[in-house]
Amino acid sequence: MKYFMGNDELFIISYYKKIINTIVIYSMIIATFMQIHGHAIEFPEKGKVPAFIVFGDSIVDPGNNNYIETVGRADFPPYGRDFPGGVATGRYSNGKIPSDFFAEELGIKEFVPPYLDPKLNINDLVTGVSFAFGAAGYDPDSAKLANVMTLQDQLNLFRGYIKKLKDAVGENTTSTIISQSVYLVCAGSNDITNTYFSLPFARLHYKNVSAYTGVMVNWASSFVQELYALGARRIGVISAPPCGCLPSQRTLHGGLFRSCVKEENEASILFNNKLFIELNSLNQKLVGSRFVYLDIYNPLLDLINNPSQSEFLQKGKVPAALVFGDSIVDPGNNNYIKTIGRADFPPYGRDFPGGVATGRFGNGKIPSDFFAEELGIKDFVPPYLDPTLNISDLLTGVSFASGAAGYDPKSAKLAVSLFERLRYNVSTYTGMMVNWASSFVQELYELGARRIGVISAPPCGCFPSQRTLHGGLFRSCVKDENEAAIIFNNKLFPELNSLNQKLAGSRFVYLDIYNPLLNLINNPSQSGTHSALFSSLQ
Ligand SMILES: *[C@@H]1O[C@H](CO)[C@@H](O)[C@H](O)[C@H]1NC(C)=O
Ligand SMILES: *[C@@H]1O[C@H](CO)[C@@H](O)[C@H](O)[C@H]1NC(C)=O
Ligand SMILES: *[C@@H]1O[C@H](CO)[C@@H](O)[C@H](O)[C@H]1NC(C)=O
Ligand SMILES: *[C@@H]1O[C@H](CO)[C@@H](O)[C@H](O)[C@H]1NC(C)=O
Repeated sequence: MKYFMGNDELFIISYYKKIINTIVIYSMIIATFMQIHGHAIEFPEKGKVPAFIVFGDSIVDPGNNNYIETVGRADFPPYGRDFPGGVATGRYSNGKIPSDFFAEELGIKEFVPPYLDPKLNINDLVTGVSFAFGAAGYDPDSAKLANVMTLQDQLNLFRGYIKKLKDAVGENTTSTIISQSVYLVCAGSNDITNTYFSLPFARLHYKNVSAYTGVMVNWASSFVQELYALGARRIGVISAPPCGCLPSQRTLHGGLFRSCVKEENEASILFNNKLFIELNSLNQKLVGSRFVYLDIYNPLLDLINNPSQSEFLQKGKVPAALVFGDSIVDPGNNNYIKTIGRADFPPYGRDFPGGVATGRFGNGKIPSDFFAEELGIKDFVPPYLDPTLNISDLLTGVSFASGAAGYDPKSAKLAVSLFERLRYNVSTYTGMMVNWASSFVQELYELGARRIGVISAPPCGCFPSQRTLHGGLFRSCVKDENEAAIIFNNKLFPELNSLNQKLAGSRFVYLDIYNPLLNLINNPSQSGTHSALFSSLQ
């Protein structure tokens, strides 16, 4: 039996570009958001991260498997076909792998080498290496099946790496490198496909997929906590991909038409829902930590379902951008209604073309403008209520957003009486908010919309107004309000995943704004960012 197939990796890599596109857009939202709230933005400071260090499976293994006894190798053609020199380095890909792209994006180096390569010199070590092994997983059994190193083995290699660094550059420099570096963990797909769904004893042992994915998340959580204990602080964890759509699984379990295997995709979603919540909770628990959930599931599934649109964000392929929401994306609708919530006077618009205060709650463009520009549609998304709009403005999209609006119909009316408030606690209120959000996007879907990005709740307790009102003498962030935002996000994320499964052809995307913002608030001096991975992990 073959436990994994190279095709899977080729397949995943070819979709990498889309994920980077998503990340770039997302960082613009954050940058703009910071402008709106009056923080200076310094763009972009490459070279702030000393090293990029990688753990996981074949998706990020640059050739460690070449140096151990395993059948799972990628050091022969067609691997490496598009790599410089056409060399099959051991990467499970025709070219670079995600870890290479990330390291390049961080301004560190072009390729992350395998730690086991005996030719590595000290410069290679201090800028980061990959400890990943093709076929590894959070489940130690996954690695054992293919005779490769488990994540625990990878941590032991990392301990040896720290020792080598200390010998070469001293204790202090080493601890700076370890604490300032960005870490990437990518595992889980082998656990679901090769271990749980291929080995009858695993299924018998764990009873059901809910129990198994729970145990996987416990392993993942212990792993990143051990990394934290060794000094790592900025740790990105890649979600499980839609495992049932991997070519090997479609061949093995997909029947005559090689369909995606529903149970395996459901397992991925179960795992991801739990991983997402667990990482949020670790961020609250472990001081100075920055755990970031990096979604690979939804972009991949979208591309699988729409291969002809394999660049979702390709310029000129999207006819229009339609925007709903609050002040973050209101380009001036509030100018046309009776409200005290307006932004049509200075200093708003200070950095807008012509210095015009258009009604945007910002000094310049707002996130929706950046989105539309990145999609190649137009420079600005106008307010729907502007009576001067012509038909071409309408055809390319407008914003229906209104400052101070929320999912709760009452937040648009501002007057939520204390009586009203007593009826709810945070848990029931966030539950209702998610119901409203869900009904809202389902109505959009019924009206024909298919690609809908939903921005998470930000760390509300850190807004200037909340710090002034409830932050005490030191204007601290208000803990309860941040916790409420997390509770809402923890419910919103699985709800969007479930809508994606339920509504044919839909693509609901959860866009995290909470973690990057909180991080920027906590580390204002490091606010220079040029990609979301960077900003989230800085
Ligand atoms: C290392 O850092 C400690 C504490 O910051 C300092 O006291 C010590 O002098 C440093 N050692 C070297 C060799 O720089
Ligand atoms: C899965 O198994 C666990 C025990 O192993 C059990 O508590 C749980 O109810 C089961 N869940 C489902 C959905 O069957
Ligand atoms: C519609 O208005 C935009 C400016 O908002 C202008 O650039 C465009 O030429 C107008 N189109 C038509 C058909 O009048
Ligand atoms: C919130 O209210 C609901 C129903 O009113 C109740 O079941 C739940 O226990 C409450 N939660 C907390 C944390 O108080």
